[in-house]
Amino acid sequence: MHSVQEISPQIFWVGGSDRRLELFENMFPLPNGVSYNSYLISDDKTVLLDTVDSSITKLFIENIKHVLAGRKLDYLVVNHIEPDHGANIEEIIRLYPEVKIIASKTTFKFFDQYFNIDISSNSIVIEKEGTEILLGNHTLSFYFAPMVHWPEVMVTYEKSQGILFSADAFGSFGALAGNIFADETDFENVFLDEARRYYTNIVGKYGRQVQSALKKLSKLEINMICSVHGPIWHKKDIPYILDKYNYWSLYKPEKKGVVFAYGSMYGNTENVMNALANKLAQKGIKDIRMYDVSKTHPSYIISDLWKYSHMVIGAPTYNLNLYYPMHTLLHELTALGFKNRKVSIIGNHTWASAAVKEMKALIGNMPNIEIIGEPIDTTSTLKAEQENKLDKLADDIYKSLNEL
Ligand SMILES: [Fe+2]
Ligand SMILES: [Fe+2]
Repeated sequence: MHSVQEISPQIFWVGGSDRRLELFENMFPLPNGVSYNSYLISDDKTVLLDTVDSSITKLFIENIKHVLAGRKLDYLVVNHIEPDHGANIEEIIRLYPEVKIIASKTTFKFFDQYFNIDISSNSIVIEKEGTEILLGNHTLSFYFAPMVHWPEVMVTYEKSQGILFSADAFGSFGALAGNIFADETDFENVFLDEARRYYTNIVGKYGRQVQSALKKLSKLEINMICSVHGPIWHKKDIPYILDKYNYWSLYKPEKKGVVFAYGSMYGNTENVMNALANKLAQKGIKDIRMYDVSKTHPSYIISDLWKYSHMVIGAPTYNLNLYYPMHTLLHELTALGFKNRKVSIIGNHTWASAAVKEMKALIGNMPNIEIIGEPIDTTSTLKAEQENKLDKLADDIYKSLNEL
C-alpha cells in the first residue's frame, strides 16, 4: 500500500522511514529510526527529487507509481548521490528509461563511480547556479551547496511556491510517523536532540560550507524547507531551525553549562568526576550532563558537547597512553572541527602518567579551546587531602561559567 502526502498542490512526499536499521552509515545508533524523504512534482512535466535508501525501495516505487498514475517520469533531480538517497537511481532509470537526470557535474562523476549504466544522452548537467527548468505551473532552479554534506551537493528551489529541497541540510535522525511537518510534531521533545546529533556527527565538520550555503539561500524567499531526512519546515518555523543551524555551524554553544565525559576502569576516575559535579551543583550550576565514554556512543556525547559551553574530560592512563574510548571521542571531535569551548582535564594513573598529557595534546589540536583550571592528575584514587585541588577546579569552572 502506498503512503504519500500532498505537501503543496501537485507536490508529493513519496519517502518513507526505516525503524529497523541499527546504525546509520554503519556507525551511528538509530534508536528512533530515520526517514528518507523524496518528493515528486506532478505538473505538465513530472519530476522526482532524489530517491531513497535501498531499505524502503518497495514502498518508494509503490508511492511513485501511485502519484504518477500511469504517467511517465520526465526528470530525476539528484541533489545528493550518497547511497542513502541515491540507492534507487538505477531502479528509476530501469522503470522510466527516458527519464532525464538533472545534477551537478560532480554528481555525474560520482554516478559513474557508483553505477554501470551509460546515461550520457539523458543527462542535464547544471553548470550555472540559478539555471531554471520549467515544469508548467512550477519552475525549478538549482544552487550548489558543496560539502553540505558531500562535494556534489546542490539544492533545488521551486520558485512559484518558494519551496527549498535542501538535500541533507536541515535534516534529522528519527523516523516520521504520519506527521511529516515539524509543526505537526513535538519537535523540541521528539526531534531536536536527534537533529543536533545528526547535524554535529554527519555535517558538523563543514560549518564553514554550511554558513556559505545559508548566506546564499538567504536571498531566496523560502516558504517551506524539504530535507531528505526528518520533518518538513513550514515558513513560520524556518527562523527557529535556521537559528539552530547558525549556532551549530558557527560552533557556538547554545547553552551555558557543563558536560562531563569520562573513561573509568574501576570507578576511581568516575568518582572524581562525581565529586566535581557535586561541588558545581552545590554552587548552583544546573543541567550538568555526565557521560561514561565506554558506555555511551560518542555521537550522543558529541551532540551535547556541541550544545554546551564547558566540558570536563577525565580518563586514566592505559598502556602508557590515553584510555582508548576517550582517545576515540577526542579524535572524533578533532575530525569534526570542534572548537570554541572551555575544557577542564582530570587524569588518573597508578605508576606512569600519560592521560593528562595526551588529553592536553588532543585538545590542543582543536581551535580556540581554553583550558580552565589546573589539570588534576590523581594517582589511583583521589585522597581527602587533595580535595582542595578539586575545590579550586570547581571555583575556576564556576567563575568561567559566570564570565559568559
Ligand atoms: Fe549525506
Ligand atoms: Fe542523507
